[in-house]
Amino acid sequence: MGELGRSGIEEVLALTDRFVEVNERSIPKVPALRGKTVVSLFYEDSTRTRLSFETAARRLSADVMSFSVSSSSVNKGESLRDTVETIEAMGVDAIVVRHKSSGVPWQLSGWVQPRTSVVNAGDGWHEHPTQALLDCYTIREKRGGGDGSGLAGLRIAIVGDIRHSRVARSDVSAFTALGAEVTLVAPPTLLPPSLDGWPVQVSHDLDALLPGLDVVYLLRLQQERMIEALLPSLREYTATYGLTARRAELLRPDALIMHPGPVNRGVEVAADVADLPSSVITRQVQNGVAVRMAVLYLLLGSGVDRAAL
Ligand code: NCD
Repeated sequence: MGELGRSGIEEVLALTDRFVEVNERSIPKVPALRGKTVVSLFYEDSTRTRLSFETAARRLSADVMSFSVSSSSVNKGESLRDTVETIEAMGVDAIVVRHKSSGVPWQLSGWVQPRTSVVNAGDGWHEHPTQALLDCYTIREKRGGGDGSGLAGLRIAIVGDIRHSRVARSDVSAFTALGAEVTLVAPPTLLPPSLDGWPVQVSHDLDALLPGLDVVYLLRLQQERMIEALLPSLREYTATYGLTARRAELLRPDALIMHPGPVNRGVEVAADVADLPSSVITRQVQNGVAVRMAVLYLLLGSGVDRAAL
C-alpha cells in the first residue's frame, strides 16, 4: 500500500468511478480485457475477495481460471513454485494470489515472466491492498470530497483484532495517505507488539471515541490466527469493544459503520447494528468489484480507449 502513495490511490479511485458506472448498466460488461487471462490462486479461504476478483475480470471480458487448493496437486505435495510455473506455462496475464504467508505475492512476481502481473489478494497478516482501496472508495463516496481532498480530516477508528489483521495494516496506510486521522481501538493483546512507525493513535475507550467519529471500522476476531489465548472470553470482548446497539447510538447520524467481512454478528458488531442504514458493509462489497476492475484494467489494460469503457 505504501508504495502506491496518495497519487497512486487517487488514480485507482478515479478510474473506479468509471467502473461503478459500468456496473450500474443493464449489461455490466466492457471488452477492455478481451483475450487476457486472469487466474485466481487462493491458498486461504475466501468468499467475497475471490468472487469479487473473478467477477471483476469477467466484467472486463477477461477469461478466468480458478484454482482451488483443496482439489489441486498441492495435495499431492506440489510446491508453490511448481504450481505457479505450471499455471504460467498455460499463458496467463495476471495471477491473483491469497496466501497465509506474508510476502508470497512478491515471491511470485520474482518467479513469473515480466508479462504476468501478480495481484495481492491478502498475504498473511501483512497486506490486503484492494480491500483498503475499496474502503477508501466507499468512505470517499459517502463522506469525502470527490474534489481531490481525499479523506482529509476524517476521524476513523479501526476496532478489534489489529494484531492479526492485514486489512488494518493496509487501511492505516491508505487512510492516512489520504489525510484521515486514524485511531486503533483494541485490547493490548490484540495490538501489534510494536506500533513504531504507525501514524496512528491508540485508545482502549471506545465509548469516549464514538461521538467524534466519521467512520467506525470493525474487524473480525481472527480466531484461526490466535495461537495463544489472547482474550478472556468472547463475551467480555463484546462488552468492551463490540459495536452494540447502545454504543451505536453514541455515533453521529452521518457516521459510517464498516467491516471487511466476514462478519461475526453478535461478536464485533450486533446483528441489528450491521443492518442499520449507516452500515455500508454491502456497499463495500459492491464497490469491491469496481475497484478490482480498475486495478486489473490498470495492470492489463489492452490499450482500449478509456472513453470506450
Ligand atoms: C478479510 C481478509 O480475509 O483479510 N476479509 C476480506 O478479504 N474481505 C478479513 C477477515 O477475514 O476478517
